[in-house]
Amino acid sequence: MGNNGGSGGRPYGWALIGCGGAGSGHARGAAETPEVEVRGFCDVVPESAERLQSEYGGYVTADPQRIFDDPSVDIVSIATPHSMHTEPALAAIAAGKHLWLEKPMAMSTEECLQIAAAQRAAGTQLMLNFSFRFSGAVREAKRRLGRPMVSHAQCLMAPADLNRWRWDPVIGGGPLWDIGVHMVDLLCWFHEAAPVEVYATGGQLTHREALAGTDIVDTTAATLRFADGGVATLLASDADFNAYVSKWFFELYGPGESAVLYNHCRTLAYNGTGGPRAVEKLSPPAVARMPYLIEAIQQGTESYVPARNGIIATLVVENILESVRSGRPQVVELPAELAGE
Ligand SMILES: NC(=O)c1ccc[n+]([C@@H]2O[C@H](COP(=O)([O-])OP(=O)(O)OC[C@H]3O[C@@H](n4cnc5c(N)ncnc54)[C@H](O)[C@@H]3O)[C@@H](O)[C@H]2O)c1
Repeated sequence: MGNNGGSGGRPYGWALIGCGGAGSGHARGAAETPEVEVRGFCDVVPESAERLQSEYGGYVTADPQRIFDDPSVDIVSIATPHSMHTEPALAAIAAGKHLWLEKPMAMSTEECLQIAAAQRAAGTQLMLNFSFRFSGAVREAKRRLGRPMVSHAQCLMAPADLNRWRWDPVIGGGPLWDIGVHMVDLLCWFHEAAPVEVYATGGQLTHREALAGTDIVDTTAATLRFADGGVATLLASDADFNAYVSKWFFELYGPGESAVLYNHCRTLAYNGTGGPRAVEKLSPPAVARMPYLIEAIQQGTESYVPARNGIIATLVVENILESVRSGRPQVVELPAELAGE
């Protein structure tokens, strides 16, 4: 990877919008990347931006326009709540900035397509922060298995605090928009396609009374069918956490080999072909994320987790939700922009 820096050979200027839990990870990633210089932090809560400023430097603002207008900012991270991705993403792209964007890309396929179209027209780069793609164990599972025939994705959490924005029907949308997109993205990455059909059941099982009157789904059991005949199941709920499998748990099978990802996707238990059937346990370290975006900017190639993946994750979550609500299987129709890929 070269070190061309931003325009004029200087380092790439980076700024963050949304300085909470996920934003802190972006800030650390930016600060640890030699080609990048931290410029500013934006949050509607000044203390949140100041907390990161005290650690990494740069300026603090409550107005994202200051970041968009700043010519020394080349890359913008967006780590605001779910319903607040599209507006700053479009504004950042319009200002010519590259994006490191949190998941979900947006809460509707239509908005995802708007962001993708704007990015294409601007010729800027966009990388989604689907974290598990950067896990050493996940990448090793993919390297060894290639495309599985059968897979399972699971996220089981302790009963959630419904006062958090994640459970707000408009701002957060509930767990499928939070954890569901991670699972869908990983399944599609392993199966190397979007599913052609999903069927899902579930609903309000863990918070029947508290969620009554909203359409938030707290528990989902889904099946996904892929064009090559591959099948996957997905289980998501805050019914309870069990440390034996950990919060995140993935299984990938065949043909003739298998992988289980557990310990928050940090550990891979691999059953190989040919040799002894003893399980091999591996915990390769995660890889740094920001260098992948820098590489895409420098090489002019598609980023490691491009817009297409964000669109598909949102599209599939929409179909899962529709299936839960209607009780019917859903044919997943790729938008024209993605058809044929
Ligand atoms: N990739 C991952 O593994 C991962 C992990 C956690 C969260 N996330 C994602 O990151 C995003 C943020 O989640 P979080 O856990 O950091 O939430 P959080 O509540 O900790 O942080 C969100 C921050 O955004 C700020 N904010 C809200 N509206 C804003 C606005 N209009 N302009 C500027 N700042 C605003 C809030 O004040 C807060 O500081 C979500 O999309 C979430 O799904 C991703």
